[in-house]
Amino acid sequence: MDKLEILISKKEIAAAVRQLAAKITTDYKDSQPLLAVCILKGSCVFFADLIRELDLDVRLDFMAVSSYGAGKTSSGEVRLLKDLDDVIDNKHVLIVEDIMDSGITLQYLKKLLLSRNPASIRICALLDKPASRKTDIEADYKGITIPDSFVVGYGLDCNQKYRNLPDICILSQD
Ligand code: IMP
Ligand code: MG
Repeated sequence: MDKLEILISKKEIAAAVRQLAAKITTDYKDSQPLLAVCILKGSCVFFADLIRELDLDVRLDFMAVSSYGAGKTSSGEVRLLKDLDDVIDNKHVLIVEDIMDSGITLQYLKKLLLSRNPASIRICALLDKPASRKTDIEADYKGITIPDSFVVGYGLDCNQKYRNLPDICILSQD
C-alpha cells in the first residue's frame, strides 16, 4: 500500500518558486530574451509556475528525457525522447528541471545543449537531493534541498502516478 506524507506544502513550494524567479529575473535583465527549457514530464508544473513569475522576455521550448525505468530506481541511462523544436545558437538557455538526484540527467542535457553553441546555459532545479549525487554537476538556481527519500507530487511521479498532487510528498510503499 502507498503511504504519502507531505514534505513540502504548496505554500512553501510557491514561496520557493517566487524566490527563484526573483533571482533569475535579476540575473537575466541584460540577457534577454531568455529561452526557458522545460524537461518533461516532471518539470511541467514547476515550469508553468516559474515562467509566470519571471519579469523578462521569456520564450519556451520543451525536451523530454527518460532516465528512470519503472518505479523508484534510476536506470542510470538517459534517453532523449523529444528534442527542442528550435536551434539555440547564441541564445540564453535556462534548463528547468524538477529534481536533481544523481545528476546524470542534467549532466547529459547540459553537455548536449552546450555542443549547440548557446550564448549561455544555466540550470534551475526546484529540488536538490545531494545525498544521491553521482556527478559533480551543480544547479545554478536551486530551490529546496531534500533528504534522500522518494518524493511525488507537483509534477513528480511514481510510475506516472501522483503528478497532480499539489504538495510534494514522501512516498513509502509496504
Ligand atoms: P537524476 O538523473 O538521477 O538526477 O534524476 C533526475 C530525474 O529522475 C528527475 O528529472 C526525475 O524525473 C527523476 N527523479 C529523481 N528523484 C525522484 C524522486 O524522488 N521522485 C520522482 N522522480 C525522481
Ligand atoms: Mg524528470
